[in-house]
Amino acid sequence: MNIETLKVRYQESEALDILKGFLHDYPQQIVLASSLGAEDQVLTDMMLSIEPKARIFVLDTGRLHQETYDVMALTRATYEMSYEVYFPEAKQTEALVTSKGPNSFYDSIENRKECCHIRKVEPLKRALSNCKGWITGLRKSQSATRSVLEKIEWDETHHILKINPLADWSEAQVWAYLKTHDVPVNRLHKLGFPSIGCAPCTRAIKPGENVRAGRWWWENPDGKECGLHVKEAH
Ligand code: ADX
Ligand code: SF4
Repeated sequence: MNIETLKVRYQESEALDILKGFLHDYPQQIVLASSLGAEDQVLTDMMLSIEPKARIFVLDTGRLHQETYDVMALTRATYEMSYEVYFPEAKQTEALVTSKGPNSFYDSIENRKECCHIRKVEPLKRALSNCKGWITGLRKSQSATRSVLEKIEWDETHHILKINPLADWSEAQVWAYLKTHDVPVNRLHKLGFPSIGCAPCTRAIKPGENVRAGRWWWENPDGKECGLHVKEAH
């Protein structure tokens, strides 16, 4: 089925029905990318309720919070599942930290992107090889860079489908789902972290700040993406 047909087919569909459709049509070739954040926990619960062996991967950058590892362990135990885990390539990571030290990302945007490339973007490429599509927890209202987001997209970088079932969801809907379904959540959320990435690059937000204000907080909000979700220019 081509991308335009899929867009029409799922235009009005609820998140659960989108997941059901793709898990049915491409069993084992559709993967959820989980950062263990609130949105991804919603999708994890939905996917495993449809298919207990659904594939879910985590890019373990080596710099995640202990709280993130804790919710990962709790989710594994609660659902009796395991994640596919991708680490950065050892040689590249060793070379980076040897030459620039452990905190190079604070020194310049180039350095920050270099670290994200080694710890996230390259492992993502490996995680998505042999897949027909990947599912993300992206939502339109998360940031300026995500305001134009469709539920079904063509990922020009990886040449596979990109499925964003929660594109139209509000933060309140996410939390209502998590509560109703008693889903494990990262305890950092309660401490003012709506969006959680790597520990050195995430801080709590202040009341009234955008939900992603605590990510790479020293950078301009219009360009703050790590490379996992950047659209290629045409
Ligand atoms: S990021 O690009 O700024 O890091 P964000 O944390 O908002 O992304 O998460 C958006 C979506 O990207 C998540 O819902 C998830 O699908 C995917 N994602 C982000 N970080 C990871 C990770 N470490 N492992 C797997 N998927 C991730
Ligand atoms: Fe490196 Fe920070 Fe990017 Fe994590 S978020 S990969 S620590 S620059």
